[in-house]
Amino acid sequence: MILVTGGTGLVGAHLLFRLAEANEKVRAIYRNERKLDNVKSVFSCYTNNYEDIFDSIDWVKADILDVPSLTNALKGVNKVYHSAAFVSFEPDKYHLLRKTNIEGTANVVNLCVSHNIEKLCYVSSVATLGRPLKNEDATEETVWNPESDNSVYGITKYGAEMEVWRGTQEGVDTVIVNPGVILGSGIWRYGSGSLFKKAHKGMKYFPSGTIGVVAVEDVVSIMIGLMDSSIKNERFVLVAENWAYKDFLQALAKSVNAQPPNKLATKTLLDIIWKLDWLNHKLTGKRRRLTRHLAEAISTEKRFNSIKVKNALNHEFQPIEESINSVGKQYLKQV
Ligand SMILES: NC(=O)c1ccc[n+]([C@@H]2O[C@H](COP(=O)([O-])OP(=O)(O)OC[C@H]3O[C@@H](n4cnc5c(N)ncnc54)[C@H](OP(=O)(O)O)[C@@H]3O)[C@@H](O)[C@H]2O)c1
Repeated sequence: MILVTGGTGLVGAHLLFRLAEANEKVRAIYRNERKLDNVKSVFSCYTNNYEDIFDSIDWVKADILDVPSLTNALKGVNKVYHSAAFVSFEPDKYHLLRKTNIEGTANVVNLCVSHNIEKLCYVSSVATLGRPLKNEDATEETVWNPESDNSVYGITKYGAEMEVWRGTQEGVDTVIVNPGVILGSGIWRYGSGSLFKKAHKGMKYFPSGTIGVVAVEDVVSIMIGLMDSSIKNERFVLVAENWAYKDFLQALAKSVNAQPPNKLATKTLLDIIWKLDWLNHKLTGKRRRLTRHLAEAISTEKRFNSIKVKNALNHEFQPIEESINSVGKQYLKQV
């Protein structure tokens, strides 16, 4: 039996579809019944007959922060895909980020150790890579620098990776994937899906930096490929292509038949916007939409290299232009 955490999220739902479609015995945890609609929305992108696939999954209510419920979910399991995480760049959310990403992952790892799990796949992020030297690409070897001005999300995903590496020392064979921004259909309220929503409404500005992107179909097929291989205790950067934000946001707009952004949001403009956003948050309590780290990240040129996974699995990534067009098409169909 395979256990998937984070099954109601973008990666987990696409992964569940692939596993269940291949007739694997799959269990998935969920916290809230309402979130199961995300899964159905993702499954409906693949087939009209999604209810049968959904029903073939053993859904168990559990929280990675609640050890008894998680222990129950691990009964009879031999492989674990750990994709659950809290994704936020808001400094105010640091406590919950640490709790979910570090403590939650430690719970998953501890139970993998005590249940003699054969193999664990952990979904990390390129946010755990350090900054490469000028003109170099970031790879699996670009080590984290704790002295850098790291984002709260990056700090907690790095802490989670440390828990996973600790698990390898305690006998759990593991593979870690470090994806860039993941493009996929079915969830439009947040994450990369919400970028299609924003593009559809019309974006005027693009930032000056670059973005490392990968299709969710590539992410899940690599996860399955690594789990089915003899590879263990290694991590793999998953970025299909590095794009300038200008080209990326313009392609996104085109994919949903919207007006492409044509004005540069300079670093100075973004600095002003994140400060105003911070003030607005302090005065009204509204969620922050642009933090200092996010403003910095989208204004920076950083390139990633995925040659390691291409060679290890002989994997060819989907061209990103195709992924953008297919997600855009699905957005127009579903929304
Ligand atoms: N999306 C990206 O562009 C991207 C890029 C790089 C890395 N990643 C990593 O990929 C993984 C999956 O990301 P995603 O985009 O699929 O995220 P997502 O759509 O935000 O989904 C997160 C999942 O984690 C679950 N979760 C959160 N806290 C939990 C808890 N305490 N107990 C149990 N489940 C919990 C959520 O459940 P609820 O539905 O109940 O909230 C949801 O199923 C994450 O580890 C993320 O850091 C994502």
